[in-house]
Amino acid sequence: MINAENPMLLGASHTVFAVTDAIQSSYPVGIFDSGVGGLTVVAAIRRAMPREKLLYLADVARQPYGTKSPRTVTRYAVQAAEFLVARGIKALVVACNTASAVALEAITARFPHLPVLGVVEAGAAAAALASVSGRIIVAATEGTCRSQAYERAIMRRRGDASVTCVACPLFVTLAEEGLTDGAIVESVARHYLDPLFSRANEGDCLVLGCTHFPLLAPALGRLAGPGVRLVDCAEATAILLAETLSGREALPDSQGGLTLISTDAPERFARIAGRLFPALGRDLAVELADL
Ligand code: DGL
Repeated sequence: MINAENPMLLGASHTVFAVTDAIQSSYPVGIFDSGVGGLTVVAAIRRAMPREKLLYLADVARQPYGTKSPRTVTRYAVQAAEFLVARGIKALVVACNTASAVALEAITARFPHLPVLGVVEAGAAAAALASVSGRIIVAATEGTCRSQAYERAIMRRRGDASVTCVACPLFVTLAEEGLTDGAIVESVARHYLDPLFSRANEGDCLVLGCTHFPLLAPALGRLAGPGVRLVDCAEATAILLAETLSGREALPDSQGGLTLISTDAPERFARIAGRLFPALGRDLAVELADL
């Protein structure tokens, strides 16, 4: 079953094993975020590739990632990747913009043979296509804004763009609380976004540059107004994953499936995730893991 053609890193010892395509095809795709936000990416992947098995890690013990230094986020992200690789995965999706913005290089360097996708490139590509005027607003975490990863990724695709990044850290807390609409969400959204959208012609595109933010999309859309397109990196990431897996997609008889793992309070994670994503089913089983 083992051959020399197709090396892939497996196991906590980081020994290089070479495995056949058939084995790789049956492996899950590893996905991680600091909490429930990355499930917006999971939902898009399940819609696009229902036969893929998914292994999702929520690092809730150490959330939020968005307010932490690049050094700390990189350490957390590499540990999350190591955990998933040790379980056996065929590709890794970093379903966290903050980690994608600062830690993608470190993860790729650690696992050079593993396909690793970040959500920032996918979100930037979608925004560059969606905006007509080129004036693009990115709502993200402090860490993502500080990194200027969106500015760089959008400008690489559209030299005429002007990108404004606004840090909205409380959106993460609201989503983790299961609070996605209503007076409190609107008031927090106004606090961050009113200064931008009250100016005429400020932007025609609002990038939801944190995977938690699509959960607040109805409220954010109302505030931004009908002339502003909301861009979410989830669908674009799912398309990128399908392209990346080409030749290594799930075997035709695979039923798919989703395994959920949390680094703390799995019952709470199950409750909030189940409420926010009813399509995942009732009474979600969530494993507890230490990184
Ligand atoms: N959902 C993550 C992101 O896309 C992280 C949010 C957080 O933990 O601050 O940036």
